[in-house]
Amino acid sequence: MTKIAVTAASGKLGSEIARATVEIVGKENVVGLARTPSKAESLGIEIRPGDYNSRSDLERSLQGVDSVLLISGMDAPDKRIAQHRNVIEAAKSAGVSKIVYTSIQGAEDSTAFSPVVQSNRQTEEDFRNSGLDWVIGRNGIYIEPDVEYIETYKDRGEIANCAADGLCGYTTRSELAFAYTRMLIESQHNGQTYNLHGEAITQQQLADYLNTAFGTNLAYREMSVAEFQKDRAEELGDFMGSIIAGIYEGIRSGACNNESHFEKAAGRPHQSWDEYFRLLADR
Ligand SMILES: NC(=O)c1ccc[n+]([C@@H]2O[C@H](COP(=O)([O-])OP(=O)(O)OC[C@H]3O[C@@H](n4cnc5c(N)ncnc54)[C@H](OP(=O)(O)O)[C@@H]3O)[C@@H](O)[C@H]2O)c1
Repeated sequence: MTKIAVTAASGKLGSEIARATVEIVGKENVVGLARTPSKAESLGIEIRPGDYNSRSDLERSLQGVDSVLLISGMDAPDKRIAQHRNVIEAAKSAGVSKIVYTSIQGAEDSTAFSPVVQSNRQTEEDFRNSGLDWVIGRNGIYIEPDVEYIETYKDRGEIANCAADGLCGYTTRSELAFAYTRMLIESQHNGQTYNLHGEAITQQQLADYLNTAFGTNLAYREMSVAEFQKDRAEELGDFMGSIIAGIYEGIRSGACNNESHFEKAAGRPHQSWDEYFRLLADR
């Protein structure tokens, strides 16, 4: 049986992918790598050290592993490229045969988020040039943060941002986990770059879905990019405020309205937003 390693196993996406992979191949065939191993212990699988800054730790931790899933890091874009290269090089030295990368969709130029997208594109290139079998998923935007933000939206009575009527291909971490498990296990995905998201929706549609699920009466209000950046910076600081505004500027420009390859990757369609929000309402 193939041994699979999932990095950032302490994180939300890494832990979901590790759990989904265990369901298919069993606990004994999944290893979690974590920068902070104690935070991943509750997964009940073997956890090994996995700081992207430590190539030697990564190389030791990838011994005996056949396939690795690399969750994109959280550091500044220039640092990420080198961190991701540490994982690729460690995988090669450890004799890993296949690497899978969680990349991102979004505007490659002209927004404050574009340096992050470009760093993901560089890692994609590094994967393609690695000499190993590779698969790349370009994740859509997670929808969960909007759901978790519901109390704030309620207080404000609205969703206000600079996405305007741009369509956005959202997804959920559990749908991504379902797809990535298949991409790790099935060889027909090798050499593929997939956009992973569900049906693209506007912010007005998102507000309508939230209203149906939570009985709210949220309106959508368009802001300029500069206005939204100032609003986010007040809550999150200048760096994160600019990044968030850059993501929404990308939605506004159509950079998150791409063809989805989810069904090809997962072997079934992405969960519909009707079903997702109906299940939320039933909870
Ligand atoms: N598609 C989207 O909408 C979207 C939104 C936000 C982020 N993302 C990307 O998706 C990734 C996963 O998202 P998430 O929701 O799982 O985030 P999360 O819950 O915040 O998890 C981030 C993970 O990255 C790990 N990490 C950070 N720096 C690391 C390093 N130097 N070496 C090894 N691991 C490191 C963290 O480890 P510790 O537990 O040690 O901190 C944690 O496990 C993010 O890292 C980001 O690149 C995508």
